[in-house]
Amino acid sequence: MNRIAEIFETLEYGPAPESAAPALAWLASHERKFGHFIGGAWTEPGEEAFASTNPANGEVLAELTQGTSADVDKAVAGARAAFPGWSALSGYERAKHLYALARAIQKHSRLFAVLETLDNGKPVRESRDIDIPLVARHFYHHAGWAQQLSRSFPGMVPYGVCGQIIPWNFPLLMLSWKIAPALAAGNTVVLKPAEFTSLTALLFAEICERVGLPKGVVNIVTGDGATGEAIVHHPGIDKIAFTGSTEVGKAIRAATAGSGKGLSLELGGKSPYLVFEDADLDSAIEGLVDAIWFNQGQVCCAGSRLLVQESIEERFLQKLKKRMATLRVGDPLDKAIDIGALVAPVQVARVQELVKKGVAEGGVLYEPDIDLPASGCFLRPALITDISPANTVATEEIFGPVLVEMSFRTPEEAVALANNSRYGLAATLWTENVNLALDIAPKLKAGVVWINGTNQFDAAVGFGGYRESGFGREGGKEGMAAYLKPAWEKALKPAAAEKPAAARAQNALDADSRLDQTAKMYVGGKQARPDSGYSRPVLGPDGQSIGEVGEGNRKDIRNAVEAARNALGWGTTAAHNRAQVLYFLAENLDYRRNEFAERLRAQTGVSAAAAEAEVAQSIERLFSFAGWADKYDGAVHNPPTRAVAAAMVEPLGVLGIIAPAELPLLGSVALLAPALAMGNTVVLIPSEPHPLSATDLYQVLETSDVPAGVLNIVTGAASTLAKTLAEHDGVDGLWCCGSAETSAMVEKASTGNLKQTWTTRGLAYDLADAEKFDGPYFLARATQVKNVWIPYGA
Ligand code: NAI
Repeated sequence: MNRIAEIFETLEYGPAPESAAPALAWLASHERKFGHFIGGAWTEPGEEAFASTNPANGEVLAELTQGTSADVDKAVAGARAAFPGWSALSGYERAKHLYALARAIQKHSRLFAVLETLDNGKPVRESRDIDIPLVARHFYHHAGWAQQLSRSFPGMVPYGVCGQIIPWNFPLLMLSWKIAPALAAGNTVVLKPAEFTSLTALLFAEICERVGLPKGVVNIVTGDGATGEAIVHHPGIDKIAFTGSTEVGKAIRAATAGSGKGLSLELGGKSPYLVFEDADLDSAIEGLVDAIWFNQGQVCCAGSRLLVQESIEERFLQKLKKRMATLRVGDPLDKAIDIGALVAPVQVARVQELVKKGVAEGGVLYEPDIDLPASGCFLRPALITDISPANTVATEEIFGPVLVEMSFRTPEEAVALANNSRYGLAATLWTENVNLALDIAPKLKAGVVWINGTNQFDAAVGFGGYRESGFGREGGKEGMAAYLKPAWEKALKPAAAEKPAAARAQNALDADSRLDQTAKMYVGGKQARPDSGYSRPVLGPDGQSIGEVGEGNRKDIRNAVEAARNALGWGTTAAHNRAQVLYFLAENLDYRRNEFAERLRAQTGVSAAAAEAEVAQSIERLFSFAGWADKYDGAVHNPPTRAVAAAMVEPLGVLGIIAPAELPLLGSVALLAPALAMGNTVVLIPSEPHPLSATDLYQVLETSDVPAGVLNIVTGAASTLAKTLAEHDGVDGLWCCGSAETSAMVEKASTGNLKQTWTTRGLAYDLADAEKFDGPYFLARATQVKNVWIPYGA
């Protein structure tokens, strides 16, 4: 057989090496030593240095500077100095800068790609064809947002200085996801690349210089986690955006609690990859190669948990093993390889450790017998079968080329297994049955769902997680919104100090002399006595007892959360139905408007006119959010591939609401109405001093067809109950009106399951202000966007 015929037979590739010379020449031009890029200038390489190495061969590429607190101070000062000028530029001017960055990245795309591959170990085929084109796309896309900002986001202003901390798996791509929207919105940034992979960020800094980006708009500080911590704690930073491990994400959540800093977290995942029996199996196999072996599996949204329908399991695994044996592992600069080097020896060790654990727990490991380079951070693609959902490898993010597999019998079981994770970043599903696909996709608890495709990304389509995969979205309109805040919010003043409580001479028994007026709690559609067996007096303006409410405790909160979880079906009822219930609630409140006004007067001593106005505003707010229920919805994006991405607006789930002390009725209604309109179920802690307006709502709820468990009310000491709610893993989001201390406590206590929080931090939020609060402000905070990618078009 001649050579060519032989190649056709064996399908063996020769090497197709990409030259490293231009990237090495660029490094040489910096004498392979770098300082930071601060205020538009390079600092001298610092005394404390660390090496950036090529994980494919261990060669040291450059010496980088470990950023100190002083360096971070300088960078924040640089960003602060640049902020007034940058944010005052017209959107068009900022757009031109972003466009210039996009063009420059395109012009030097090969240099970026090769440098990325040298530093990270990813196949140059991926850095050249995926990472760098997506980077350019991000800057192009956000140039457009910069120009449209005032029209698309009226009344919104940038945060100020953003601290951005990124991981090593997609170094330049993560930089672009962070920097492009921040700059488009008018923020300036201090960005810290990961210590393993800083080189393309430094090349990007040079590009910023070359295209004449104003000095100080982008500052790059290199260093490890300690440098990251200095950024997180810096008082001069207004928002932190982080991508990385869930562990560090939680530490950052705790560290920023109470600081008022904006926060978005894009964390880990254990994303399911579902293959139904009617799937196009060959396509599903190729998809799987992309899902788990793209970037050596070091992908936050990697389809690392394969779930196959039992009827095709054996056949699918056979095909998969055959395909795995054809994967080529080797020199990342060889354009014909599939799997390159992992980022560093420590990561190889971590992956090996987890695989060992998987086997020790009974998993069966398959690795194809393929050649590996003699040295470097290389691993074979691996598959672990025969595991159960509780095994370490089924629950922990491995972040390497390791796939784990389980089977399911029915679609219901597939959904249950898929959602059986503390994460919720992405999910993939394969089926030729359009009905099944569109039935399953909304049921998956993940920020992104790919149908018959995987790992699709685009700047126009939001990306981000549910649950412990973090919060906030990057890309799309939601991603832009994450770098903006209402101008009025920046100008909020501290709330007036709470009036000292009226003389509390009463003891708990005082009210007993009157007719029993003890209002019970409301849990699962029924009035409930407090577990504690204690009641607390409610005092009128003159300090006299006007009734009693139950003293709620941990157990009451647990019961209320359970009832709220059981009622989550509210989120999938038609928006029209939810609207009807809210309209009905408004109507029934209207019937009793005099009663409610009277109660307000009795509790707070406001004038009759003020009491009537508060009731009228509450009715109006309910009416208004009833109207919003079917209008605050999603979009269909057009990414540059053969797919559409349906951005679906979903409720957070169970929302804890700690209502403000003032405005006993409107304070609760202003928060409840948007939460319920968007399909959340609620555990409400009403005004601590004036809870009777909320407890009076029971009767209205009962006559308004609000399903049991959709709204639960627990009275008592607000900050104690807030802590219990914040710590409860069954609560998905928490809104807390309270002092700076209570808000900080709530944010810190919410770290466990990374619930989304909104807190007033002792600032004067006036919930009566319909201009601010009767609309998207709370609707956005009551929801999260799921993007479902659907193959479409020719
Ligand atoms: P990491 O989360 O420690 O690193 C990400 C970034 O955070 C880096 O820039 C690092 O310097 C910085 N950092 C570390 N500690 C910090 C702190 N206390 N405060 C502020 N910044 C800090 O991730 P690491 O250690 O490199 O990888 C460990 C594991 O994390 C991986 O095996 C993988 O499972 C997961 N991971 C997940 C990523 C994702 O995108 N989901 C990305 C990177 C890692």
